[in-house]
Amino acid sequence: VSGWAGKSTSISRRRFLYGAASSLAAWPVLGHAQTPDATGRRLFRHGIASGDPLTDRVMLWTRVTPGEAAAPVRVRWRIAADDRLARVVAQGAATARPDRDFTVKVDAGGLRPGATYYYAFDAAGEQSPIGRTRTLPARGASRLRLAVVSCSDFEKGYFNAYRNIAARQDLDAVLFLGDYVYEYGINTPGIERVAGREPSPAHECVSLDDYRLRYASHHLDPDLTALHATHPCIAIWDDHESANDAWRDGAQGHDAEQGQWAARQAAARRAMDEWLPVRQSPRMYRRFAFGGLADVMVLDGRSYRDRQVLPTDDALANPRRSMLGTEQEAWLYESLRQSSRAGTSWRLIGQQVLFAPFVPQVGSALEVDNWEGYPAARSRFFDCLEQDRIADVAVLTGDIHSSWALDLPRTPLAGYDAATGRGSLAVELVTPAVTSTPFMARRGMRERAKTFSTVSPHMRWMDGDRHGYMTLDITRERLLADWYHVRTVTERTADERKAASFACERGSMRIRPV
Ligand SMILES: [Fe+2]
Repeated sequence: VSGWAGKSTSISRRRFLYGAASSLAAWPVLGHAQTPDATGRRLFRHGIASGDPLTDRVMLWTRVTPGEAAAPVRVRWRIAADDRLARVVAQGAATARPDRDFTVKVDAGGLRPGATYYYAFDAAGEQSPIGRTRTLPARGASRLRLAVVSCSDFEKGYFNAYRNIAARQDLDAVLFLGDYVYEYGINTPGIERVAGREPSPAHECVSLDDYRLRYASHHLDPDLTALHATHPCIAIWDDHESANDAWRDGAQGHDAEQGQWAARQAAARRAMDEWLPVRQSPRMYRRFAFGGLADVMVLDGRSYRDRQVLPTDDALANPRRSMLGTEQEAWLYESLRQSSRAGTSWRLIGQQVLFAPFVPQVGSALEVDNWEGYPAARSRFFDCLEQDRIADVAVLTGDIHSSWALDLPRTPLAGYDAATGRGSLAVELVTPAVTSTPFMARRGMRERAKTFSTVSPHMRWMDGDRHGYMTLDITRERLLADWYHVRTVTERTADERKAASFACERGSMRIRPV
């Protein structure tokens, strides 16, 4: 197909692409048998990862496949300034234990800001692949590049987007905005599976062991593993890490016969804490400071939100209606104010669901799960930006399996001028799904999208058909967003093309095509 360029992988990069060349024909069966996988590894077959970078530390992660006795395994770790691990700057030991599903997480400190590091684990005479990671820059940073991803349903296809992100040399970190795993069983009606993409367990994930197995399936995927071995990640969850349309006290996808919601949610959260390199904390929302250039706030829109309601429900107009919960909302506004007062150039908000306001007849087409279903909470956010004159804010969104660039006025048809951007208070950038079913594939959506684009002048661009990822290239003067779409997810390929390029000049609060 013309226009689809495959990414080439240099020889020097290959050593970080753990398992990338291995056969996909047979997925190793999970369990306790330490038989070597296709790469010859017994212990470290789920790869390595790094995440939650700060200026002086980063989380390092691996998982050890235990022996038959499921006994704890002593693991050593090293982080070095060079890719042969000769100039070690920190090292230590940890124990992989059954109560953490044999995952190992280390908060490796004593690092320099804005620096690239390499790390590995070893146990019982076997060394893990070598991973690369990067710390956050100190004050005075002039450039930042991020990839942004969401929605990687294993059975819907190959992680070609992850593969291409892994092959990039130019990223500081990768933001995962949620739906990293899906809870569905493999025979869920209406869900089509791509041949060869069968995750464990076969049934719907409900228990801790279920969620653990689902993450383990993902961490055997060579493209996901390659991404983790190459870039530090910052991950938050959406609904499918627990159950569809999750809210504070339940989920559309949770039935009473599946047990207590709180127990299921806690199991889902625990599996995520075990299997991803997130710095453990009771609250998932947190902030990353990229050297005065950008502050990145990542939100938890699932643990505290009020229940979703139909557009006709009176509760929709409740002024106390909340997406983030009182505490997180106050934390967000204070973070925005602090960031602005400190003179940081940009404020990025990594969150889950579509934020932009639409006219009412469109909102109902866009589901009750996004911010359209929480209008009072969205108004309070706009109040904060206006009252405290907080500029240069970009909302980063996943969840909706499509690519969008939007201005963020309070209302799209009043007090907003698309030609000049006047009335827009921020911008929203939406990353497409890595593999999950595209937005336009939903029944009737293409027709509805035609209608709502005519009454949505703040919607500057939308593609609802393609899979891929988004990158952000940030300088003091402008934020550049590029969308990369992959040719297909039904086969494993590096073919991709740049689908769109939009920029926001600092001080403009609007997004424009480049
Ligand atoms: Fe999703």
